[in-house]
Amino acid sequence: MTTHEYIAQRAKDQRFILKRPISYLEIGVLEGNSMAAVLDGDAVHQSVGIDTFGVEYGGTGKGSSIHILERFKTELHRLLIIQSDSHYVLPLLSGKFDLIYIDGDHSAEGCRQDLEDCLHLLPPRGIILVDDIDNPNHSYLLQVVESFVAKHGLEFDHHRIGPGLAEIYG
Ligand SMILES: C[S@@+](CC[C@H](N)C(=O)[O-])C[C@H]1O[C@@H](n2cnc3c(N)ncnc32)[C@H](O)[C@@H]1O
Repeated sequence: MTTHEYIAQRAKDQRFILKRPISYLEIGVLEGNSMAAVLDGDAVHQSVGIDTFGVEYGGTGKGSSIHILERFKTELHRLLIIQSDSHYVLPLLSGKFDLIYIDGDHSAEGCRQDLEDCLHLLPPRGIILVDDIDNPNHSYLLQVVESFVAKHGLEFDHHRIGPGLAEIYG
């Protein structure tokens, strides 16, 4: 199973467990491939994607979200794209997201901050997924996740999927 397939499956699982369509937050949209996997089907009723569309961490460098709006033009009734630095916008968001996928700033401090900033958006039974925890280029990310869950008394599973995926339970 690929990372994208796993995220899409967790969206469907959450919809089944919560007995309603879910809300999804994605940090790091790039070309929209993970977003497309999650939006395939009716598990999600509201989806928010955040990306600078700059050059950091494999970014498109397009400096704009137009390619995403074009790709998902039939989904805009349930998709909001915010072109911004997650570290600026996450503290400003309100509401709750049943599934959150962190795949943006891959620095240790950036990932730690994204995790902290997502906590107020996580409802009971919500899930945070963090990508690349086994990626040798970001070998510190597993420790970032371990420190975060220990600090907040949370639990997580370490999935050996793709470049490694942490699943943190709210
Ligand atoms: C690995 S890619 C995302 C891949 C995408 N999730 C997928 O699977 O198709 C990382 C993305 O995070 C974005 N990014 C990096 N730092 C960011 C930040 N501080 N705020 C928002 N987006 C950021 C980059 O622009 C890039 O598009």
